[in-house]
Amino acid sequence: MRRLQGALIGFGFIAEKGHLPAYQAASLDLIAIADTNAARRELAHAAFPNARIYDGHEALIAAEARNLDFVDIATPPYMHAKIAHAALDAGLHVLCEKPMAVTTDEARSMIEHALRAKRVLFPSHNYKHAPVIRAVAKVLDEGRIGKVHHVTLDTFRNTHARGVKEWRESWRREKKFSGGGIAMDHGSHTFYLAFDWLQSYPTSITAKMSTAAETGYDTEDTFSAHIQFPTGTAVAQLTWRAGIRKVIYTIHGEKGAIRVEDDDVEVSVMGDPNGKPVTWKVTEEKIASDWMDASHTIWFRSLFERFQAAIDTHDYAGKDAQDALRCVELINAAYASAADQSRERVLSGSDAAPPLAPPSVRNVRNINVKPVNGRTNGNGHANGNGVNEHKKASLGS
Ligand SMILES: NC(=O)c1ccc[n+]([C@@H]2O[C@H](COP(=O)([O-])OP(=O)(O)OC[C@H]3O[C@@H](n4cnc5c(N)ncnc54)[C@H](O)[C@@H]3O)[C@@H](O)[C@H]2O)c1
Repeated sequence: MRRLQGALIGFGFIAEKGHLPAYQAASLDLIAIADTNAARRELAHAAFPNARIYDGHEALIAAEARNLDFVDIATPPYMHAKIAHAALDAGLHVLCEKPMAVTTDEARSMIEHALRAKRVLFPSHNYKHAPVIRAVAKVLDEGRIGKVHHVTLDTFRNTHARGVKEWRESWRREKKFSGGGIAMDHGSHTFYLAFDWLQSYPTSITAKMSTAAETGYDTEDTFSAHIQFPTGTAVAQLTWRAGIRKVIYTIHGEKGAIRVEDDDVEVSVMGDPNGKPVTWKVTEEKIASDWMDASHTIWFRSLFERFQAAIDTHDYAGKDAQDALRCVELINAAYASAADQSRERVLSGSDAAPPLAPPSVRNVRNINVKPVNGRTNGNGHANGNGVNEHKKASLGS
């Protein structure tokens, strides 16, 4: 099979530390790179001497479109839509970093353009490729906690993520480049996981946010939201002012619950729900997922495989792209709610959102999940030291 030829637009932190190593491992060839910053272009050349280097996406697309199958957009969000439209106009597939766009109109027009052009638009929703998140998907697929009706998603960061120092390290705090603060930067990861776990798209949101006065930035550093779905509720909180870097997710079903804390997964399955007291069988597992490595290199390998599969199957604006649109819509609805004394915002198209087909990532069955202290049994489950089972009893029902 012919190897796909691609170009990177924006050679910053995530392109260099996350995408590039994944290209080297995947069956995709990187033949060109564009960056508007001269120092970054020099570094791009040093890292990838065989790639042709350009000072912007226009020059790259004009010179290289006929040699390319796709572009990979890794600039800050303010440019995502513009570059995606230029690439689609040139007949190229588009892989795009999150958030796919800054506004709902931009995201929707990208999807419409991809469908018209018959080219794939695929967002970099890499958290769903984290080994620990894949393990959660497997527990849900097996029905071990039953139908999910409530999830909580906490993202704690002790600072905003920094971009490369050669350009604007703190662009995430400047709305004109980022489109917003932590909700715009990290909300996509939070929300597409909630969509997968609750198996539907949200119908309304109420949100609140704040910015520490001393920072002088025009984007929020702390955000919380209550989100209603046809199938249940999600409660999310995100902050760049935490005392630790950590994600904590909880997923609640009719027969039990899952707690994820970075690499740790705890699955609690209820015994007899009418028992007095109700008891839970608790399984704890540690699944190395490199949460502390902000480049998330290993997650990108499997994401690139999904991008390639979408190209092979002509899935031009599939579930991931639809998720990306819903994420952008939700983030902007949250901002509108927060600006209006947290008044509930109803989401457009909510009553047209049917329960989703199983998330595409759940179709990737051969998960290479490696527990830290144990052996895998080939299905991503740890044996021996990796699993720790014990019983918990509730005080009431
Ligand atoms: N999926 C993830 O886990 C993850 C992690 C980090 C960043 N990201 C996303 O990746 C994107 C980039 O983030 P980053 O941390 O790598 O930022 P960065 O600041 O490190 O890199 C951005 C690069 O884009 C270049 N650039 C700026 N404007 C440009 C333009 N108009 N054309 C071409 N190049 C331009 C800059 O010179 C810089 O080299 C953002 O959308 C961010 O949200 C995703």
